[in-house]
Amino acid sequence: MTIIINQPQIEEAKGVSSDSKELLLDGGFVMPDTNAFGHTFRDYDVESARQKSVEEFYRMNHVHQTYDFVKRMREDYGKLDRVAMTVWECIELLNEFVDESDPDLDEPQIEHLLQTAEAIRKDYPDEDWLHLTGLIHDLGKVLLHHKFGQLPQWAVVGDTFPVGCAFDECNVHHKHFKGNSDYLNAKYNTKLGVYSEGCGLENVLMSWGHDDYMYLVAKENKTTLPSAGLFIIRYHSFYPLHKHGAYQYLMNEQDKENMKWLHVFNKYDLYSKSKVRIDVEKVKPYYLSLIEKVCISIQLLKSTSCEFVNDPKCSIDVSVLPRKAEMVRPSSFT
Ligand SMILES: [Fe+2]
Ligand SMILES: [Fe+2]
Repeated sequence: MTIIINQPQIEEAKGVSSDSKELLLDGGFVMPDTNAFGHTFRDYDVESARQKSVEEFYRMNHVHQTYDFVKRMREDYGKLDRVAMTVWECIELLNEFVDESDPDLDEPQIEHLLQTAEAIRKDYPDEDWLHLTGLIHDLGKVLLHHKFGQLPQWAVVGDTFPVGCAFDECNVHHKHFKGNSDYLNAKYNTKLGVYSEGCGLENVLMSWGHDDYMYLVAKENKTTLPSAGLFIIRYHSFYPLHKHGAYQYLMNEQDKENMKWLHVFNKYDLYSKSKVRIDVEKVKPYYLSLIEKVCISIQLLKSTSCEFVNDPKCSIDVSVLPRKAEMVRPSSFT
């Protein structure tokens, strides 16, 4: 996937002086109590129509996401040399997929992207970088499409976690890691594993999926999204860290700063999932103008060395958040 980006000229947000980067955030987002199925969000134990398929999803994910697997996928997908398309074409391509790891949502992805972006836009009208982040954060799910390798869902969606060190117990359905070949490997099963304290998340291999893939796409194409936007894209599924506080010993100072924005983003990513429908045609012009500002086009990569993930045996059908947070505002897209 290749993103081609012109240097955008995004105006400084109204009401935030350029020399005062401190921003008091209080979005006022009202979080619903239940998801579209009437259950609390991210409840992996409740008996529901989706519970069994979600657990089977995580079983496959935890068994197959090894250190070596992630390395191979990053090397393979880092080539970015297959398909080119616009962002909106990519969004529409996602429309046919439902995320099978998600117990809260059974709507097409375009609904989720627009619900997230629109909820952020309502509360943070001046943070257009965050609107765009909301719109594109899940575009890496195109990995499910045959043009992008048609990876099984366990290699695309679900919560992410570091590989190369011990699997923290707060990971959803942790028991299934016992089937992972790294689980008993002394090189990978200690608290730090192959890493060092405070090494920074950028030096940590995360389980392979749409987060890291979209991050690679953005980075390789020299996106001008601010660091916080890239951090959100790369780690928004890293619930063990941003919800449970696990793996904090791997973070550096920059990670801690960006984490504040990820916490803001996450409540919209999670709690905007509802049966509220977005009028796509009505909001499309705004997002097209935003996309035009950063001139993103999307090109996809070659996926030659992942035959085994397409093996039918491996393929399955497949906070407490602060009301107010003080943080440094990213310097827009430039
Ligand atoms: Fe996601
Ligand atoms: Fe999402």
